[in-house]
Amino acid sequence: MEIIKVANYEEMSEKACSIYVERLLNLKNPVLGLATGSTPEGLYKKMIEKQNQNEVSFKNTISFNLDEYVGLDASNPNSYHYFMKDKLFNHIDIPAEQTHVPNGEVSDTEKECRDYEERIREAGHIDLQLLGLGVNGHIGFNEPGTSFSSRTHIVELDESTRNANARFFPSIDEVPTKAITMGIETIMESKEILLLASGENKAEAVERLINGEVSEEFPASILQNHDNVIVIADEAALSKV
Ligand code: GLP
Repeated sequence: MEIIKVANYEEMSEKACSIYVERLLNLKNPVLGLATGSTPEGLYKKMIEKQNQNEVSFKNTISFNLDEYVGLDASNPNSYHYFMKDKLFNHIDIPAEQTHVPNGEVSDTEKECRDYEERIREAGHIDLQLLGLGVNGHIGFNEPGTSFSSRTHIVELDESTRNANARFFPSIDEVPTKAITMGIETIMESKEILLLASGENKAEAVERLINGEVSEEFPASILQNHDNVIVIADEAALSKV
């Protein structure tokens, strides 16, 4: 695991963007695993700038998002479909049919999980998977206790996760209780993983990610077993390491 320490959120986004630019320029048909949340927003802004400056293009890129809430339709501003369009897809040249976000609105969610896996398989593999980090160690929406051999599946969200994400909703009651997420094994099959963490509230989780025991009780700890992981974290997030 390579740890890159940066001063703050801005520098984290800058550094992450430079890695993306390099990979996008080197790969003919990049397959990107994307994430939502506050952490990647700065990176997405910088990627849009890079495209506007004609430094990169996303025309040949295929993307797969990690997760989506169950029960929110794509036009709901709190859905991850909406987030991705608003923060990235609407501003870059990636063809809509090459972007994939799990559909949490279908009646047969189990089938959607299987289909999502199939779509990833058809694309070959994920070249670069972006991850944020939940305060309880979740990656995607894989909560503590999730099997390391899980594939895309439906999860019951932890109270701590619902509380952490309640800031985006009018009230905690409106935060969905379920989500669909790529599994841990699905994530681990990515060729390269880039995890971003910023702020003091992530410090404990970052410490366990780097030094903790590899255990299903702390999902992100599995990344210690992947041989191509870069963690970009700011001083506050690394303050307990
Ligand atoms: C959410 C998402 C994760 C994200 C994490 C951290 O629940 N499902 O993919 O990485 O929580 O979010 P944030 O970046 O807002 O701290």
